Amino acid sequence: MAQLTESQFEYLCSLGIKFHGDQTQLLAYGHDETEDFVFPPELVLIPNTPEEIAAILSYCHAEGIPVTPAGARTGLSGGALPLHGGVLISMEKFNQILHIDTDNLQVTTQPGVITEVLQQAVKEHGLFYPPDPASKGSCFIGGNVSENSGGPKAVKYGVTKDYVLNLEVVLPTGEIIWTGANVLKNATGYNLTQLIVGSEGTLGIITKIVLRLLPHPTHDVLFLVPFFDAKTACAAVPEIFKAGIIPSGMEFMEREALLWAKAFTGDETIPVADNHQAHLLIELDGFDQDQLMREAEQLFAVLETFETDEILFADTAAQKAALWNLRRKVGEAVKTQSTYKEEDTVVPRFQLPNLLTHVKAVGARYGFKSVCYGHAGDGNLHVNIIRGELSDEQWEHELPKAITEIFEEVIRLGGTISGEHGIGYVQRPYMPLAFPEVTLNLMREIKRVFDPKGILNPGKIF
Ligand code: LAC
Ligand code: ZN
Repeated sequence: MAQLTESQFEYLCSLGIKFHGDQTQLLAYGHDETEDFVFPPELVLIPNTPEEIAAILSYCHAEGIPVTPAGARTGLSGGALPLHGGVLISMEKFNQILHIDTDNLQVTTQPGVITEVLQQAVKEHGLFYPPDPASKGSCFIGGNVSENSGGPKAVKYGVTKDYVLNLEVVLPTGEIIWTGANVLKNATGYNLTQLIVGSEGTLGIITKIVLRLLPHPTHDVLFLVPFFDAKTACAAVPEIFKAGIIPSGMEFMEREALLWAKAFTGDETIPVADNHQAHLLIELDGFDQDQLMREAEQLFAVLETFETDEILFADTAAQKAALWNLRRKVGEAVKTQSTYKEEDTVVPRFQLPNLLTHVKAVGARYGFKSVCYGHAGDGNLHVNIIRGELSDEQWEHELPKAITEIFEEVIRLGGTISGEHGIGYVQRPYMPLAFPEVTLNLMREIKRVFDPKGILNPGKIF
């Protein structure tokens, strides 16, 4: 645990940068959305410019003070938790969209812009920034880049990494660099841009982001498909793609996921019958309504080969919004029901039924209930393990063994341990399941090159 000396504290507070040092604020900045963890920093600094961040980092590098960068603190793997105390740098003042380049279909933004605000701003120009994590109304785009966030649209449009062209980054040693160029093709040297994407604030602090954009689709249709059996719902997913359809959303929700989201939001408009064990929420989008209807017919033809109940066709904007709201609120809804742990498993999509079967079998053996939902089209299943009546002993000592068994199967099925939430703090113990020592050592060496003293976001990933 770092303990800032009085003179270090005084120096950092004298830089002319807004700061918080009182207990209430330190506690508030000491947690994100990951379980109920709180690791208060000793000082919160709220800089306005890359140069101010550079000044903080070069001092902290010289003094060996831990620094944790934080965005909106909506993360689910504890990436923004100041595990070792020290300084927390909040990026909340970096909240300007700098330039929407309608000639080149790009946007340059500061990292503290809320993702949905960015999406709306470019949409006013007919442009589309697709990655849409469930927290899009509150998370920061910089956090999305740091965690390589996904969301429902990823199945057709890809994740955050697929849009990042160039980044301005302050290195842990205080230099300010650009990682690439504002171009769509780049074969110039190592790809530092993509190295920073998903590096969870361990290699540098992002201060500007250049993203590519697409023309915004003009039409979409949305269906909620009830299944009598959860495995059948998962099994239908790859068949849809094999029929040549790429939906713009292909979400899976187990019975409880939808029921809990309904209870949480108070939504009574979506019927869930007693024998509905799971749902697929399927969206198609494009630029031509007739084309979409033809695709929808193809989709129904595939679904007809599975046992489903009547498909709900969301035909008004309000109904579409209600369905998406239910889907987005599942995570929060689970949180209100019980203490839980969220695993962000991802497998090749054809293996989804096998993954689901394994998760339930492990749960039965260890005595826990799980609620599964997520981005089925990407094979990305969020496994929420419900604490329920589990004892401290079971929760703290038995559960890690169960999680290990789930992750081992994920790897055996050709998948990996996080699709979009990152490793951060909570998944760190499981990294050796995903990579052999030689690969982990390469990653540790990369970290050392960027951050020789290990001051930036220490305790994350490895
Ligand atoms: C979701 C978040 C938890 O998909 O990733 O709802
Ligand atoms: Zn998700």
